[in-house]
Parts: sequence; C-alpha cells; structure tokens
Amino acid sequence: MSQLYEYPDYFARFYDIIYHQLRSHVDARYFLSKIKSTRGSILEIGVGTGRFFTEALGSGADIYGIDISKSMVDVLKNKLDPSEHYRIYTGDACTMKLDRRFSLIIAPFRVFSHVIDVTDQIKFLNNVWEHLDDEGKFIFDLFIPDPGKLQKGMDKVVDFEGEYEPGKKLRRTVSTSPDIVNQILDISMNFEWEDNNKWLTKTWKIKFRIYFRYELEHLITLSRLKLENISGDYKGGSLSKNSKEFVVVCRK
Ligand SMILES: C[S@@+](CC[C@H](N)C(=O)[O-])C[C@H]1O[C@@H](n2cnc3c(N)ncnc32)[C@H](O)[C@@H]1O
Repeated sequence: MSQLYEYPDYFARFYDIIYHQLRSHVDARYFLSKIKSTRGSILEIGVGTGRFFTEALGSGADIYGIDISKSMVDVLKNKLDPSEHYRIYTGDACTMKLDRRFSLIIAPFRVFSHVIDVTDQIKFLNNVWEHLDDEGKFIFDLFIPDPGKLQKGMDKVVDFEGEYEPGKKLRRTVSTSPDIVNQILDISMNFEWEDNNKWLTKTWKIKFRIYFRYELEHLITLSRLKLENISGDYKGGSLSKNSKEFVVVCRK
C-alpha cells in the first residue's frame, strides 16, 4: 500500500469508548448476524480493537482478523486469551498472504476508504478473492458521499464528549475539508483528555477516499470478484437518494 495510515496509540486507546456510542447501533446487528450465520471460517479485514470480533469469537465463530495498525491490534489482543492470539494478524490487506481460505470476509466500517490509490484498491479486492473459498462472500461498507455536505465540510465539530474512565473526561473535535476532484476527504481529529488533573491534547490527520456508486461497481468489475448487490443500509434496503451507506456484497 503506497500510503500508510496507521492509527495512533491514543486513538486506539479511545476507539471503543467513542465508537460503541457513535457507531455500533448502526452496523453491529448486521455484521454480527452475517458472522453468526456463517458455517466456515471468517476473516475480518481492519479488525481494529475487535468491536465485533470478541462477541463473534465468544459465540463460537471460527473468526480471524487482520489489521494494518499495531496500536489497534494491541488493544484487541489485550482483550483475548493468549491462546487465541494466533487468530490475529498485523498486516496490510493489499499484500496479506494467509495460509487459510474463508467462507466470509468482511471489512466493516469504511476500511476500504483508507485505500487511496486505484492500484491498491484492485490489489485489495483481488487479494480478498485469493482468500475466499469457492462459495465465499465478501461484504464491506462505505459512506455515500453527499456533495453538498462534503463541500461545506465540518469545522471543529465536537462529535464525542464523555468520560473514558470514571471522572476522566474525553472530547473529540473533527474538521473536514474535501478535495472533490481527487475524491479525497482530509480529516483532522483533535483529542483532548484529562489525566492527573491535566488536559492532554493530540491531533491526527488522515485522508479518506470518497467513492461514488458506479466507480465502485466498475472497480469490482475490474477485479476478480463478482458483484452480488449494493444495498443502501444495513437492512438490505435498495440504494435511494436518501441512502447513507453503501453495503456491498461480492462473491468469488
Ligand atoms: C474505522 S476502523 C474499523 C475497525 C473495525 N472494523 C470496526 O468496525 O470497529 C478501520 C480499521 O481498518 C484498518 N485498516 C486500514 N487500512 C487497512 C489495510 N490496508 N489492511 C488492513 N487493515 C487496514 C485500520 O488500521 C483500522 O483499524
């Protein structure tokens, strides 16, 4: 992958606190039901801190995970019994070579937005194909760009304010700025947290690739995967002008 965007340790540390509140009510039911109804092995690409992984493993799924960010993998491994650590790989999905094949591969919560270059996007999709068994499926999601909102951007919007431990405050402030012609969203996240009666602060800048519908369809057609369906939500609803998410299902 020519552009690496590893998550910093302070983001990994606060990830669960922030996204269990901001995200899990949107997508957890969908991904956990796909995992639990799969009979063979499952791979989560961009497994992160294991927002789905720990519950899936606890329910008996033969699930594995890979993530490019060591900081995220470290948080996940801390939640697992060491005898399960062999299920977790640190690496890039564009170049991974695992000694297993999977019935289901998922890349939940915009993992594919981190893949900026077209060459890497095709490598990523073809590498997923390599790791699927003959009947295997690949499911991933992306946000649907709203050009009006993108153009306006976000200017220091506080999207999380709470406590990361009893009595210790955490605040995240987000700004975005679009580069529409290159389909890139520049995101700046500022974290402020209380520790030993002092406020600490860190800012992380990241680029997200913006994908449009037909580009996504063409990309998949260019890869070895077959596109089965793109829904507009996590309940299987059709794409419409009100849809907020691409939920993409491919097969080998
Ligand atoms: C938004 S987080 C999603 C984490 C988890 N899937 C969830 O739903 O909470 C995206 C994750 O993808 C990982 N990631 C980004 N690019 C990757 C790549 N090329 N290969 C593997 N992991 C990648 C990041 O390190 C990060 O942990």
